[in-house]
Amino acid sequence: MEVTEKRQRVFSGIQPSGNITMGNYMGAITNWVAMQDLYDCLFCVVDMHAITVRQDPKKLREQTLSLLALLIGCGLDPEKNIMYIQSHVPQHAELSWILNCYTMYGELSRMTQFKDKSQKHADNINAGLFDYPVLMAADILLYNADYVPIGEDQKQHLELARNIAQRFNNHHGEVFTVPEPYIPKVGGRIMSLAEPDKKMSKSDTNPNAYILLLDKPDDIMRKFKRAVTDSEAKVEYREGKSGVNNLMTIYSVATGKSISEIENEFAGKGYGDFKTAVGEAVVEMLRPIREKTEDVLKNKDYLESVYAKNAALASRLAERNLEKIRKKVGFVAKPRG
Ligand code: TYM
Repeated sequence: MEVTEKRQRVFSGIQPSGNITMGNYMGAITNWVAMQDLYDCLFCVVDMHAITVRQDPKKLREQTLSLLALLIGCGLDPEKNIMYIQSHVPQHAELSWILNCYTMYGELSRMTQFKDKSQKHADNINAGLFDYPVLMAADILLYNADYVPIGEDQKQHLELARNIAQRFNNHHGEVFTVPEPYIPKVGGRIMSLAEPDKKMSKSDTNPNAYILLLDKPDDIMRKFKRAVTDSEAKVEYREGKSGVNNLMTIYSVATGKSISEIENEFAGKGYGDFKTAVGEAVVEMLRPIREKTEDVLKNKDYLESVYAKNAALASRLAERNLEKIRKKVGFVAKPRG
């Protein structure tokens, strides 16, 4: 008899709020691409998370679809992975409510992203913004994911998801898999090109601070030439050289070269040559992504078939797990038919 080993499961999500940066790509999506052949993966465009800050509805719709196209452009295969839109699978919201009742106010108050976003959106500190990490925990626990590929900024949220899973399991038996974060050693935290002590973020008001995946080559080269470094003119990875360290990290991810190989390559050379090389490597890395994404975006029917088919698959998996969870918490089984 043939023994078939069950593959481990991966879940990750990305918000369709604005354009996607090279930070998102290097911190998360490259690992999604690498994991798709080894695990059963679900990749979700999290539009419900996006509305925790005000969005223009028309733009949100467009960005959600173009992000799905971009993920395909990055090399994710919708035949191999379940790639879908969060709001199409209402079980995420239902589990989120249940998990709210297993999450402490104090835990949510400690979330650094909540503190940062409440400062940034002081006129709209809504309950969804506070509850954001519980919805994220629901995304992951709904599918019993073993691994969650993320950048470093999401580590605290994942730690919370683990705590919620353990708390629920303590009450009700082994219901949830306790998920592990999967963070790249190089590229887990890509910094702003303008203020290298800050994370690269698509919501930065200065467009020279970030590289977008769909930026044109000329813009990419210009942004790297302007990137903030220091006055030492030495391509070395060291404490206190956050601008240069960041560019070395980016070059390392784009070329596959190690940090010491990069130090050797640029020994005795100035920052001008180095920045040009980083820019060119990033242009080459992003070129096929831009071309493929443009192709996918031309075919709206294909895109719709992808998210429709995959939402049905996700929903089936989610419902199977949620039936168990409802029973564990004491809900009367839903009448069939
Ligand atoms: P989001 O949309 O802000 O970012 C998507 C992914 O990109 C990573 N990332 C970075 N990595 C390295 N350097 C950076 N500068 C950088 N900026 C962003 C993020 O860590 C993330 O992995 N809450 C999540 C979305 C989410 C999710 C989930 C993730 C919702 N549900 C379930 C995992 C599992 C978020 O806002 O990511």
